[in-house]
Amino acid sequence: MKKTPKIISVASTKGGVGKTTTSANLGAFLSDQDLKVLLIDADVQPSLSEYYVIDEIADFGLTNLITNPQVQPELVASKIEENLHIVMSDDPEGDLQNWVRNTADGRTRLKMILKKRFCEYDVIIIDTQGAVGALQEATIIAADMIISPVIPDKLCAGEFIHNTLGMINRLAESAEFMGFEIAPLKAFLNCTANTNDSQAYAADIRSLEYQAICRVPVTILNSEIPDTVAFRDATSSQMPAHRYEKTSTRKTGSAFGLMSALVKELDVINEVQ
Ligand SMILES: Nc1ncnc2c1ncn2[C@@H]1O[C@H](COP(=O)(O)OP(=O)(O)OP(=O)(O)O)[C@@H](O)[C@H]1O
Ligand SMILES: [Mg+2]
Repeated sequence: MKKTPKIISVASTKGGVGKTTTSANLGAFLSDQDLKVLLIDADVQPSLSEYYVIDEIADFGLTNLITNPQVQPELVASKIEENLHIVMSDDPEGDLQNWVRNTADGRTRLKMILKKRFCEYDVIIIDTQGAVGALQEATIIAADMIISPVIPDKLCAGEFIHNTLGMINRLAESAEFMGFEIAPLKAFLNCTANTNDSQAYAADIRSLEYQAICRVPVTILNSEIPDTVAFRDATSSQMPAHRYEKTSTRKTGSAFGLMSALVKELDVINEVQ
């Protein structure tokens, strides 16, 4: 059987929860496990495109990937490293939202193109903008797995439960009538802190009965990523966190240990092989 790439969308309707950090670090970690990884920056603010140093820049980016029916990987995939490529964001005005909304197959084309033409990649990770819109919906529809970082505080917990799950529920309802399914959602607690407040919101998020409020299976992973300077410093150094901090005496463990645990629980490597 022809191998198809595993598509992971990192999504949340909330800004600033760690989507780009997760996309960049997960992508680099998996590429170090001998998987060929494509990152896609689907945010109008090109944070993921600027995360790593680009070795070879492709002629085109996200707009071409989504709108050119003849697109091929070599036209749009810029090279970071041998096993880590990226489709860079090139839509500062947000015109793609309109294109996706006004095109008959706008929301489903991304999935079709990636599954048909991007088979050289084992994993494709899509970073999205923290908002609701047609482009975000296209990335959720494309996904085999949705990952959502959630910061255990009042604003982020509320946003996750009402708006992120709300968006997934709306799409899952439409998908059912169109004959396909929306992927399971795996959420993890990001930027956790050793405070009563953080721990109380974390417990609240873990205690919800998601099958009663969400149309797709929701798992809150056991792995948590604490608020860690190493993650911010790695970003400033344009390095993956797991390479930046391999060991640490911190109780919560090194960035390498935290990323290993997250990847193990996501079970991406087994699912690809
Ligand atoms: N576990 C962490 N520990 C410390 N800092 C973190 C952690 N995760 C993310 N950050 C920091 O939080 C900020 C927001 O992260 P990031 O840009 O990844 O969020 P985002 O969801 O992509 O935001 P946006 O919605 O604006 O695209 C960044 O400065 C990042 O370095
Ligand atoms: Mg971002």
